[in-house]
Amino acid sequence: MFEPETIKRDFPIFANNPDLVFLDSAASSQKPRSVIDAMTLYYERDHANVHRAAYALSMRATDAYEDARGKVARFLGADTDEIVFVRNATEALNLAAHAWGLNNLHAGDEILLTEMEHHANLVPWQLVAARTGAVIKAVPVTREGRLDLDAFDSLLSERTRIFSLTQMSNVLGTVNPVAELAAAAREKGALTVVDGAQAAPHLPVRVHELNADFYALSGHKMLGPTGAGALWGRREVLKKLPPFLGGGSMIEEVQLERSTYAPPPQRFEAGTPAIAEAIGLGAAADYLMELGMENVWMHDRQLVEYALDELSAVPDLILYGPRGEDRGGVVAFNLGSLHPHDLATALDEHGVAVRTGHHCAQPLHRRLNATASARASFYVYSTKSDVDRLVEALKKAREFFAGWL
Ligand SMILES: Cc1ncc(COP(=O)(O)O)c(C=O)c1O
Repeated sequence: MFEPETIKRDFPIFANNPDLVFLDSAASSQKPRSVIDAMTLYYERDHANVHRAAYALSMRATDAYEDARGKVARFLGADTDEIVFVRNATEALNLAAHAWGLNNLHAGDEILLTEMEHHANLVPWQLVAARTGAVIKAVPVTREGRLDLDAFDSLLSERTRIFSLTQMSNVLGTVNPVAELAAAAREKGALTVVDGAQAAPHLPVRVHELNADFYALSGHKMLGPTGAGALWGRREVLKKLPPFLGGGSMIEEVQLERSTYAPPPQRFEAGTPAIAEAIGLGAAADYLMELGMENVWMHDRQLVEYALDELSAVPDLILYGPRGEDRGGVVAFNLGSLHPHDLATALDEHGVAVRTGHHCAQPLHRRLNATASARASFYVYSTKSDVDRLVEALKKAREFFAGWL
């Protein structure tokens, strides 16, 4: 049985903030005791730099760090040597864009993105396009909040060298049919990069079944600490990829003028890594695997359906995103013409924490005809009563702002 009320007890933040209705997990999730303990224990018992010494303490630190890599690999259905530790999804996407893009893209080549991308999956490609002369195209979003698949078919061509898309939108909650789209891209000879920042925490991911070449995630959105994320790369692609950052730990041999590089994943982990954070991410992957990602997804689905039903009954509330099996636990909304910052401040007075702004998705908000929105997002510890508190607070806010709507 998946019981969010019981799960909640694993998260000290809720005992310390008993009235908090935390609906901002899409920005960053809370952390279970097991993640906090894994990091504390590492610092108290095992800390030394990794990979560089022959003494027992350093070997224990190295083992714990590499063990965490194995856990992330298992979480994604990947092999351990295909997992590169990075700080977050942003760094993972920059790594893929710069290391692959700068070495493979030429003037006139096309980079295919989508209109629902987070800025983390737009700006790195813009930087690379500016330096290579490649051209950016983007798959539009339909009125329902899904990718326009007809437009995808016509935008994808032999000129497309790379297709980079989010598996789940951080604003619409839409889960994209990545496997199908990546297969089509592969047929045209393009690689696919998947931004899994929102999907990996919420649904089962087997990277090889996605037909993709890279997969990016952020640990802090999946119960892990800030400062640790991962980039999965298909082995054949990673092997040919030149490094992104240079320095210690990523080399084979260094001369004054040139160097040779270590094999992946070390080639992409220059300098001292975020060791405790990687260990925390490993503990988070363990916690989620124990819950079962099918169960996590089912819980999200039930809660978002409940939330959409309840929120639809709030007058003047504009809801974004599709309804259906392809909708995850993210609900963006606006209340009439009220600025979402004012709305969120009013909700906060009732103890309800939601995010507001453009959620780093300005092109998508332009498509939605909104400059910003408020966003509630759910996770393993979110309950129906959290949704009820949100709805109640929204109704009170509506009464309070009646003259301004
Ligand atoms: C879809 C998506 N991609 C990428 C990111 C970037 O994540 P981070 O800030 O952890 O690098 C986010 C963060 O909100 C996101 O929602």
